[in-house]
Amino acid sequence: MISDSNVAPLYAAPLAARLGVSARDQLAIPAGEASKSRAEWSRLTDVMLAGAVGRDSVVIAVGGGVVGDLAGFVAATYMRGLPVIQVPTTLLAMIDAAIGGKTGVDTPAGKNLVGAFHHPALVLADPAVLGTLSPEHIRNGLAEALKHALITSSGELDWLLANAATVSDPAQASAPKFTELVARNLQIKAGVVGRDERESGFRKVLNFGHTIGHAIETATGFAMLHGACVGVGMRAEAIIGAKLGVSPPSLAPKITDALVALGLPVRPPRAFAPSLAPAAILALTRSDKKSRAGAVEYALLCDVGIVAATESAYGTQVSDEIVLSALLECFAE
Ligand SMILES: NC(=O)c1ccc[n+]([C@@H]2O[C@H](COP(=O)([O-])OP(=O)(O)OC[C@H]3O[C@@H](n4cnc5c(N)ncnc54)[C@H](O)[C@@H]3O)[C@@H](O)[C@H]2O)c1
Ligand SMILES: [Zn+2]
Repeated sequence: MISDSNVAPLYAAPLAARLGVSARDQLAIPAGEASKSRAEWSRLTDVMLAGAVGRDSVVIAVGGGVVGDLAGFVAATYMRGLPVIQVPTTLLAMIDAAIGGKTGVDTPAGKNLVGAFHHPALVLADPAVLGTLSPEHIRNGLAEALKHALITSSGELDWLLANAATVSDPAQASAPKFTELVARNLQIKAGVVGRDERESGFRKVLNFGHTIGHAIETATGFAMLHGACVGVGMRAEAIIGAKLGVSPPSLAPKITDALVALGLPVRPPRAFAPSLAPAAILALTRSDKKSRAGAVEYALLCDVGIVAATESAYGTQVSDEIVLSALLECFAE
């Protein structure tokens, strides 16, 4: 059982006690993205080898996306692969990271650059554990829920906005609406991944907001949470879509309203302005691993629930001029 320093005492230890997992088989990493490293992968696999963990073992990942990605990669590689059970404990991990089979670690050259596809044998998501998560981390997950709604249907968007107050409040984690939020989003993500497991086509729709979002994340030195960056990224990419004539002009304002309703920023906070010159963001989009043969592709929406398909399948190339003017518009007060 692999967990982190925050989640181990809260949830992993009680779960281990109920499952009869010995203390020796409970491993923990320091909480935080810095642990999603090759160094922690080495340390964990060395501890497992020293403990004579055999091929008949199963890895149970109890924690947020950091634990899930790292423990999933340990499982994918240890003795050429052990089954992994994902027990996500953040909203982001429940509705996004734990499903889809992407595992891996960060490198100095960038996030998630070394990894493997390794699907979990089981995902066990209990929304009640979200009661101890900070509201900021709940909002981090809600940005991905908004993305799921936007790529699925206006019905999903209406549901999310109608329940925004409940699902933003960790004190409501045990309410049926929270379970419904997780269930709806699991279905959406699993549905997309089921259609295109290896991201050769349709799965790219999950990158909506992420080309700009990742660039903002890098430019802010990861001081802005992923979800907040993706929220701004979705708005920017809707503006790009409108400039290309792909998205209707109404899409970006709809996203702005949704971000406000969910308590997410519509543009990066002013403190980050010095590192967020549009030219710098544009340059950072080029190092995104979603680029194909050097060309950056955007997953754009023709409207809520309608994904733009092109010859290169769900990825649209955009001129620098359009990206720059969209960023200026998106970041303007
Ligand atoms: N594999 C994928 O498809 C995929 C998709 C999205 C994100 N990710 C990855 O997920 C990671 C981010 O995940 P995250 O946002 O869950 O971050 P995280 O795992 O760092 O968790 C956030 C914080 O919340 C704490 N925490 C976790 N559960 C808690 C709980 N129930 N109560 C109190 N505190 C709790 C953690 O200890 C941590 O401090 C990134 O590395 C990202 O690359 C992967
Ligand atoms: Zn994301």
